[in-house]
Amino acid sequence: MRANWNRLQNYYFRKLARYVQPREYQRVKEIRSRTGPQISVTELLYLRWGVRTFRPRTVVELGSFNGASTSLMADQLKQLGTGKMYAIDLFSQNTEGRGHGGDYWKVFDNTMQPYTGWFEKIEGDSKTVPWNQPIDFLFIDGDHSEPGVSADIAKYTPFVQPGGCVFLHDYLDSPETNSRVKTAVDRTLMRDPAYRLLGQVGSVIAFKKLRS
Ligand SMILES: C[S@@+](CC[C@H](N)C(=O)[O-])C[C@H]1O[C@@H](n2cnc3c(N)ncnc32)[C@H](O)[C@@H]1O
Repeated sequence: MRANWNRLQNYYFRKLARYVQPREYQRVKEIRSRTGPQISVTELLYLRWGVRTFRPRTVVELGSFNGASTSLMADQLKQLGTGKMYAIDLFSQNTEGRGHGGDYWKVFDNTMQPYTGWFEKIEGDSKTVPWNQPIDFLFIDGDHSEPGVSADIAKYTPFVQPGGCVFLHDYLDSPETNSRVKTAVDRTLMRDPAYRLLGQVGSVIAFKKLRS
């Protein structure tokens, strides 16, 4: 039953969304064209679906890079007229940053300009920046090492409210890419009865929190 639902979701976001929701599809494509290929249109459409479904008051993103997913989600909050987004990234503290498309935090600032007031930029290591607020929508896409993903899950998911959700990028089986995300997720959220698997589109996997 769940496998069928997942197949249907994938089929919708990969093949049908562009015809069923052409304007939304174009908007997502436009947002992605300002940033880069680090996340696919299909995956961004899935995040968009998540924000519209959960209508979160507080969105926390761990790992924003140059703002593709951040601007997509902030754009949705702005359209819905509610909520606030927190973008946590090493930004200029990322010593490897220049090897990943230059000073990406400058692209981030530029990309996010239309969403001033809808988001807050938090510069630092997700493991050490202070956080103590309830979260309705958590998107994890920062440190992709297995201890890094596990630490992000351990630190931030207790703040996710029952009825809220956790999305993660790069949940992949491939050994040479980011199966470390998969290992961390399989050891934690996947076997935690407080979470229900919502589905997976591309490498974005989503869970709903059922209870504390
Ligand atoms: C894959 S990119 C994020 C892509 C972005 N979510 C998107 O879809 O456009 C990963 C980002 O995580 C950030 N990052 C890595 N380790 C981090 C950490 N410990 N704390 C905060 N950010 C971190 C990097 O600086 C990088 O910008």
